[in-house]
Amino acid sequence: MAEKSVSTESLGTAEQRKYKGRKLRVALIGCGGISEVYIRAMQALPQIELVAGVDVKADRLKMMEEKFAVKRLYRDWKRMLKEVKPQGTIVATPNILHAEPTIDSLNAGAHVLVEKPMAMNPAQCRRMIDAARKNRRKLAVGFQYRFHPNTEALLRARDDKRFGNIQFVKCQALRRRGIPNWGVFGQKRLQGGGPMIDIGVHVIEMAHYVMGSPKPVAAAANIWTYLGNKKSDVVCMWPNWDYKTYTVEDLAIGQIRFEDGSIMQIEASFAAHVKEDVWNFTLVGDKGGCQWDPPMVFTDRAGTMVNESPAYVGARSDFAYLFERKLADWVEACLRGTPLRAPGEAGLAIQKILDGVYRSAAAGKEVAIG
Ligand SMILES: NC(=O)c1ccc[n+]([C@@H]2O[C@H](COP(=O)([O-])OP(=O)(O)OC[C@H]3O[C@@H](n4cnc5c(N)ncnc54)[C@H](O)[C@@H]3O)[C@@H](O)[C@H]2O)c1
Repeated sequence: MAEKSVSTESLGTAEQRKYKGRKLRVALIGCGGISEVYIRAMQALPQIELVAGVDVKADRLKMMEEKFAVKRLYRDWKRMLKEVKPQGTIVATPNILHAEPTIDSLNAGAHVLVEKPMAMNPAQCRRMIDAARKNRRKLAVGFQYRFHPNTEALLRARDDKRFGNIQFVKCQALRRRGIPNWGVFGQKRLQGGGPMIDIGVHVIEMAHYVMGSPKPVAAAANIWTYLGNKKSDVVCMWPNWDYKTYTVEDLAIGQIRFEDGSIMQIEASFAAHVKEDVWNFTLVGDKGGCQWDPPMVFTDRAGTMVNESPAYVGARSDFAYLFERKLADWVEACLRGTPLRAPGEAGLAIQKILDGVYRSAAAGKEVAIG
């Protein structure tokens, strides 16, 4: 069943700034790069109060204190959960540490927003979902592209039955040269994979959402590593990545088959020899099709093939805004019990796709997705 789309632009209004209602006391587990985007988003959302931060690195805790005046700082999330008793946690650690702090938080009675990908594999996702159900807490996944105005415009077109039956979707998350030069993004053991799990995940999450979240049943994929594991003096936006510890793919190409017969092709790369970076999906149905960027619907009208461009989809689509929207959706769900747009179940469906891609690439043949 397809989810209903939701209208956009509810944040940062004068009405919200006057907010006098309940607040969610939230702790950050993992205070690295993305945590700063979260903190800025929190500053726009009066329903959230940041009460603690957890990181194993002293400099990141210092940053939390000096830059954002966070007073309760910990190196161990278990201790923080016990002493601070937050009502919610945001888990933004390396992928290998998504499941454990999420489950501990849920068992301690906190709601969780866990960053993408939801975990390292579907088995971990299932344990996280079980913990949320058992403790009756909300578990959201950091899929902010579901809140992008382009995605919402295409959701409205889908709900208006403009595409008919969807047959094919092509997802592209291709960087010409963009290997992260911070964190552990090049280490398979800690991240589970490279560009497919790190950036492909986003284009897949929004395309799968617009498709109506069909059930994946099979994957056929290949991955290649040819550049990230070598020293390079090519001028690029993130030079000097750690090539010595680089064990993930540079390029992944996969095809996913869904229960309803539709197909998704996925292309993801940190270092593809393409003209320029691509961040897009296109969709083909029996009545119409679309592309995400710029948003456009391809269909027939009164005997004419037309390409329809919306005149307006929303005032903002920047990263900060998308984080505000995904935080607001989670906080609303925690405080008022509204349904999440990116619940743990959505994270599991996407994880099965990612896992299928890597399993197929390792096996050298198509694999079933259970
Ligand atoms: N949604 C998005 O657009 C988006 C963007 C960037 C990153 N992310 C995700 O957020 C997560 C973190 O990414 P990042 O860019 O902030 O990486 P990062 O490496 O900058 O930050 C990770 C932080 O986790 C800390 N950490 C490691 N072990 C820990 C532990 N045991 N307890 C507490 N903290 C620990 C590290 O010290 C580091 O400060 C990743 O899963 C990534 O995929 C999502």
